[in-house]
Amino acid sequence: MKNNELKNRDLDVLWHPCTQMKDHETLPLIPIKKAHGIYLEDFEGNRYIDAISSWWVNMFGHTNAYINTKIKEQLDTLEHVILAGFTHEPVVKLSERLVKLTPANLQKCFYADNGSSAVEVALKMSYHAHYNDGKKKSLFVSLSNSYHGETIGALSVGDVELYKETYEPLLLQTIQTPVPIDMSEAAALEAAKEFERLCEQRAKEISAIIVEPLIQGAGYMHMYDAKYLVLIREICTKYDVHLIADEVMVGFGRTGELFACEKAGISPDFLVLSKGLTGGYLPLSVVLTSNEIYAKFYCDYNEHKAFLHSHSYTGNALACAAANATLDIFENENVIEKNRVLSEYMSQKLQKFTTLSNVEKIRQTGMVAVVELKGYDAKQRIGLKVYEYGLRHGVLLRPLGSVIYFMPPYIITKEEIDIMMDVAYEAVKNL
Ligand SMILES: Cc1ncc(COP(=O)(O)O)c(C=O)c1O
Repeated sequence: MKNNELKNRDLDVLWHPCTQMKDHETLPLIPIKKAHGIYLEDFEGNRYIDAISSWWVNMFGHTNAYINTKIKEQLDTLEHVILAGFTHEPVVKLSERLVKLTPANLQKCFYADNGSSAVEVALKMSYHAHYNDGKKKSLFVSLSNSYHGETIGALSVGDVELYKETYEPLLLQTIQTPVPIDMSEAAALEAAKEFERLCEQRAKEISAIIVEPLIQGAGYMHMYDAKYLVLIREICTKYDVHLIADEVMVGFGRTGELFACEKAGISPDFLVLSKGLTGGYLPLSVVLTSNEIYAKFYCDYNEHKAFLHSHSYTGNALACAAANATLDIFENENVIEKNRVLSEYMSQKLQKFTTLSNVEKIRQTGMVAVVELKGYDAKQRIGLKVYEYGLRHGVLLRPLGSVIYFMPPYIITKEEIDIMMDVAYEAVKNL
């Protein structure tokens, strides 16, 4: 049996991400033979609805015919070229489009190849921009319960203990300011006041605040009101602190707008994008910033103000072709409007969970719907039970602790939403 054979070969040689490998003594690894649309398929023909868009990256389904064609066309033309001193059409076209689509002040694109690296770029660029202005501002502020990735800088501005605790001695000094405790405007006002208090005391040291706009992904899908973004934008401007919007997860329509910042009508100083950027096909990330920031680095070489940061695969041509194809679909297929209908449908389905006694609460922003359970402690690993139940019934759910969420590709149908959410409902009912 191919499933078993591949599992055994895998466990001989692979170390999987974010995994206690011993779990696989009892928890089966799932070898995927192929995938199409929202379905993953193993070697025995079992199919799984990808309810989490393969770690939040997939936008328009697996092996999407249009994106496939565009990548294949690119493959026969140019696969990759160094981006220092050289350029290519896909990266120029993508940058022109991103500059048009994102908030008005963002006019320059700097590429990396994953979300964490792009967060590193934004942090370094922020520090360096102040430095080039003659200011030494080496402190970064982030929100309590935030997540920005796993590299040292990104982990330093994160606040999820599970990922961070062990590495504390290795990390940069950062400060966390409280995230709004819920989705109310009052909570937004309260949290913004706290940030202002911090700025009053320490703005001279603070380079930037980095936030996940509207939804804290790995922070158990905590959500807050757009008013918070409006208020911190004002505070950042007042105190000469940069605002970094990490839209690695929320970007490309997850919150119901193409970018979450649009919901607040704000322009950050740095916008970080990855995940959905290539439709979930290839690793690529980008930091957009203003001409004003860019100008701080622009001078004669010997003034030593250049941003000498690079990654080998920066602006990879195949990844840019996938990203351009993804933007074509957004443009041509009225995706954001169509998603409103799907999101409304998920919202109706979500209500049913409130009848279960082990459900604490439900919440939703755009295309992200959440069910939070109550009455379990971390040792019970309740999420794992839901994960296993989901797999036995053909749905890939991957709860964060006791928080179950739905973040499907946008091509999901109402009938498939029924299956996805009914399986989760039964899983919760059977706990
Ligand atoms: C908000 C946010 N920022 C950054 C990252 C890190 O991205 P990557 O996993 O591509 O390094 C993630 C990953 O989940 C994320 O959700």
